[in-house]
Amino acid sequence: MKEDIRVLISEEEVNFRIAELAAQISEDYKDLCVHLICILKGSIFFTCELAKRITVPVTMDFMSVSSYGDDTRSSGVVKLVKDLDEALEGKNVIVIEDIIDSGRTLSYLLENLGKRNPASLRLCTLLDKPERRVREVKVDYTGFQIPDKFVVGYGLDYAQRYRNLPYIGVISP
Ligand code: IMP
Ligand code: MG
Repeated sequence: MKEDIRVLISEEEVNFRIAELAAQISEDYKDLCVHLICILKGSIFFTCELAKRITVPVTMDFMSVSSYGDDTRSSGVVKLVKDLDEALEGKNVIVIEDIIDSGRTLSYLLENLGKRNPASLRLCTLLDKPERRVREVKVDYTGFQIPDKFVVGYGLDYAQRYRNLPYIGVISP
């Protein structure tokens, strides 16, 4: 099956915005070390590009949760697939997410991670679809707010495909 993909945010625009977010984070965490938690798999490209541009010391860990099947509809149930390798005690944590849609994944994650005694806990997302929110989530750093469209690229998938596109595109099956 062939899907049609239209560019929503170009590679240049994404990279420019990531540099701005990295500069903001570097300023906010001056004299501190930030511990980035990459939420697999969707945030992998965003986390790498962001980390490369942050100028304060960075450590990283990885976590995997799933709330979607191989489809564009949420199952509504969040499952912890892979936990972190390290404890969060005393760390200045920033959770890095690809997109916030209903907010279910993030509200589950922030509650789970908040119990592990980090020194601070913030949230950074590349994309936000505020129209679709079911759970309230406080976002500290947002790349772009986008309309209620299913998007792929820059880590985001449709049935596990298109993660490697260097831009954000709207897919119409
Ligand atoms: P939430 O729990 O509904 O906020 O969903 C968050 C997760 O759903 C993201 O981490 C993505 O994996 C997935 N998701 C939501 N919207 C999209 C989209 O437009 N494209 C690809 N994945 C999406
Ligand atoms: Mg995801």
